[in-house]
Amino acid sequence: MELELFERNEMEEAIERLHDATAFYTAEPVVDQILARLAWPAGERRLCDTSCGDGAFLVAALQLLLEREPGIDDGRLAYLVQGWEIHYFAAAECRRRLAHILVQHGRSPSSAESVAAAMVTCGDFLLDGPSDPAWDCVVGNPPFLRYAHLPDVLRAEYERTLPDYSRGDMLHSFIDRCARTLRPGGEIAIVSSDRWLFSQCSAQLREVIGERLGVHHLERLACSSAFYRPKNRRAGQPPRIHPVALVLRERSQALTALSRAPIYPDAEEAQHAGCRPLAEVAHVRLAPWLGKHGLFVVDRGTAAAAMIPSELLVPVVDTDNIKGGRLSEPTKFAIRTYRNIEPPEAVLRHLDANMHLLARTKRRTTQRWLPPEGFERMDLDRPSLLIPRIANCLRPVRVPAGILPLDHGISIVSAGAATLDQLEEALSRPEAEVWVRARAPRLENGYFSCTTTLLRGLPVWIA
Ligand SMILES: C[S@@+](CC[C@H](N)C(=O)[O-])C[C@H]1O[C@@H](n2cnc3c(N)ncnc32)[C@H](O)[C@@H]1O
Repeated sequence: MELELFERNEMEEAIERLHDATAFYTAEPVVDQILARLAWPAGERRLCDTSCGDGAFLVAALQLLLEREPGIDDGRLAYLVQGWEIHYFAAAECRRRLAHILVQHGRSPSSAESVAAAMVTCGDFLLDGPSDPAWDCVVGNPPFLRYAHLPDVLRAEYERTLPDYSRGDMLHSFIDRCARTLRPGGEIAIVSSDRWLFSQCSAQLREVIGERLGVHHLERLACSSAFYRPKNRRAGQPPRIHPVALVLRERSQALTALSRAPIYPDAEEAQHAGCRPLAEVAHVRLAPWLGKHGLFVVDRGTAAAAMIPSELLVPVVDTDNIKGGRLSEPTKFAIRTYRNIEPPEAVLRHLDANMHLLARTKRRTTQRWLPPEGFERMDLDRPSLLIPRIANCLRPVRVPAGILPLDHGISIVSAGAATLDQLEEALSRPEAEVWVRARAPRLENGYFSCTTTLLRGLPVWIA
């Protein structure tokens, strides 16, 4: 009995935390914009918001239905408009708002209340929602929350029950689950974060969903005006996502197929006649991370005090060395060590004395003189270009030969078919930045995250 009570309290607390983390409700204009893209209301088509919050979508959908069919009977109303919500008070608020609309359309308060109660199920849609096709229009703004941030009890349940490709984020789980509840000819119209459309870790989700559905409409939304917080919650910052309005329909009626391939909301399918992917003319690599400075990366004074032989010191640069598009003189040095060759005593002494600077999980159990990411095979005899991984523009910076770029900046060297001058010119073109900006995950304040995979695919024109 006590155990049951404890489990119930634990689950209630988890739901409270989940709701607090995910209740970013959709602003009315966005709801109207999304509903206008659906075949709703239409005959016997059934609509559901599977995470309905206080009912932003359901209220608007119900109003449209009542305007179209003022005399519709109560049983049909509750059959055609449905919602799921895990949080008790949010579900109650949703029912209250639906009942209010029904009263405005001539229902008595008591029948309005019972219709609203029949419309909204308070429960966990991911665990208890229908598993067979049930609806023709699935709408809403599914919760987005990485599994790592989910309360343990809920995460354990989802991990036990849901397919692995849908378990990175609540949004992925919802998209997968919503697709399964769709009747033939059905459509999903939602507000969602843009990430799942192009990130590598959602490739399998896209593939599974794409077996049946494709993208019919995709449009960016302004994060600052798309959401509001429930009255009783901390207002705070808007969510840290880049939202899109998205309509998925049966493959045969969709404009863009969904597959493992990324879909970039801002990318125009421009022609790149005569262009080649950067990877064909350059080696694009991630600069190594050697741990905190003071261990494998030292300044001149530390190197001298530790008596590290100068021939083992390689000058290094990172993005801190880039100011106004120019590279400043290196002031730090990487200690060069080799696989299977024990370094001189002075190097070992220095490394052993400073190994605490490296997290235990990153330390080597054998050959402790090797850094967490090696650079033995990097060709430093030739100059390279460096592009910061997090940037607000795509501006390559020249790195002279003999200098090692660090800390996961993107390092580019010519692969023979193009000179470094040509590569620098190609990467500095406005079209290159437009192409990357349209595809790189957006960060805050105009910054974007550049990856080696993305840059390797950049179309470059080299005569
Ligand atoms: C982003 S809000 C959207 C609410 C509403 N659809 C809207 O657009 O305003 C997400 C809602 O999903 C609810 N939710 C989270 N996990 C859920 C689950 N597993 N089952 C049902 N609802 C859930 C949250 O409590 C929250 O109210």
